[in-house]
Amino acid sequence: MAGPRKLIVVANRGPVAYARSAAGERVKRRGGGGLVGALRGLVAQHDVTWIASAISDEDAAAAAEHEGEAFEETWQDGSPYRLRLVMHEPSAYERFYNVVANPTLWFLQHYMWGLAYAPDFDRSLHEAWSNGYVPVNEGFANATLAELERDPDAAVFVHDYHLYLAPRLVRERRPDVLMAHFVHIPWPETDYWSVLPPQLRVAIHEGVLASDIVGFHTDRWRENFLRTCEDVLGAEVDHAGATIAYAGRQTLATSHAIGVDVEDFDRLCESAEVLEEERAIVARRPEHLVVRVDRTDPSKNVVRGFRAFGLFLELHPEFCGRAQLLALLDPSRQDIPEYTEYLAAIHLEARTVNERFQTGTWTPIDLHVADNFAQSVAAYKQYDALLVNAVFDGLNLVSKEAPLVNGRDGVLILSENAGSHDELGSWALGVNPFDVYGQAQAIHAALTMEPADRRRRATAICEHVREHDLAAWVAAQLHDFDRVASPPASGEYDSRG
Ligand code: F6P
Repeated sequence: MAGPRKLIVVANRGPVAYARSAAGERVKRRGGGGLVGALRGLVAQHDVTWIASAISDEDAAAAAEHEGEAFEETWQDGSPYRLRLVMHEPSAYERFYNVVANPTLWFLQHYMWGLAYAPDFDRSLHEAWSNGYVPVNEGFANATLAELERDPDAAVFVHDYHLYLAPRLVRERRPDVLMAHFVHIPWPETDYWSVLPPQLRVAIHEGVLASDIVGFHTDRWRENFLRTCEDVLGAEVDHAGATIAYAGRQTLATSHAIGVDVEDFDRLCESAEVLEEERAIVARRPEHLVVRVDRTDPSKNVVRGFRAFGLFLELHPEFCGRAQLLALLDPSRQDIPEYTEYLAAIHLEARTVNERFQTGTWTPIDLHVADNFAQSVAAYKQYDALLVNAVFDGLNLVSKEAPLVNGRDGVLILSENAGSHDELGSWALGVNPFDVYGQAQAIHAALTMEPADRRRRATAICEHVREHDLAAWVAAQLHDFDRVASPPASGEYDSRG
């Protein structure tokens, strides 16, 4: 199907977050998270209504002004779209986000528990599920149904682990709607899902399978999903065709790794803000610069990365004074104790390494905890080695964005558990995220690599990222919609599109 389509995008975060300026005026900020950038192509080219949570007080005020209905908005590039902000009861949203979605589902899906002591689910999880996760998902489902009333032909595109229940609630009332769910984070294996109480893991799988398409960034997560559908629900799975038959319906599981908006990055690279940040980095950079850019999320493995840098200096003292780790970390989810504790651990580890190795003129780890995207892009341009050592990651966009704009044939050190490892692993230095010694060795290998080898790897990654860009990912999603809207006569899909 060519031309613009009617799409209802459903995601916890919206493309804008409203706030009130000191002068008392409403101001718009770009909504947080990678998802917003990822969906830019959809909004620019299609007729999009975006349903999101009213998160800030000012979001709630904007929603109330429109009596909870959708209203016209414009994207940063001027593209029009409709925005519908769902108002949740504050205590329900708090349980949804700070008890279920992040410390439970995010932790589960990133294999974040050692299991001997954590998790320790008590009544609060069950209570937060019933009085938080369920009502917030109901709020999203009701908003989606209201938009479908207005536009019965629109397709619904749900995102992420916040909204596992909403698709089923929509399906119950609109059996005919075309609906896809994209899961941007890893999908773990059955044994790890079994950590979650049975009624929750069954509800999650049933909720997700109410969609016609369930998308992941890699085959690894998709294969796990096919298996858990069999194991958790006893669904009938065709592994070759990647389809799941359950409760009289068929769902197609796909994998398409998201890409970068190349044009946007090319523009951003030359923007005054980024150039100014780059000048500051160049003025103080040592001979060898290792960079990491992450949210302060335990799944990003910052503490082990700092330890690895300390070990690298211990093993190779000739780099003392000549190499620095520049860590640009965006503070994240600071209402959740596990996240505040992790941020404290990050500061402590940086201090430990610095106190051990620093001199009067050189600091081994230059740690910045702030939301400064321009500085991150400037650091992308300047690294000699980029450290991405996530414990697990659905994809990891940094590992694609940074090589795209790097000007020094920098070497990518990449966790074997990042989704992007499937695509970029043969040109990166792969690391086991738990092996601190292995990461120290990889840092040394990256900084001593022959120039020709560096260039060969950096060029290959850059070419791959340019070719498999955001537009390609958006096209693949829309192609999937078309395939399930008119299935082949045999009923068998080619799961790779
Ligand atoms: O898919 C993971 C994700 O939802 C991304 O969109 C984003 O990078 C991150 O999590 C942001 O999380 P939060 O919305 O909790 O800040």
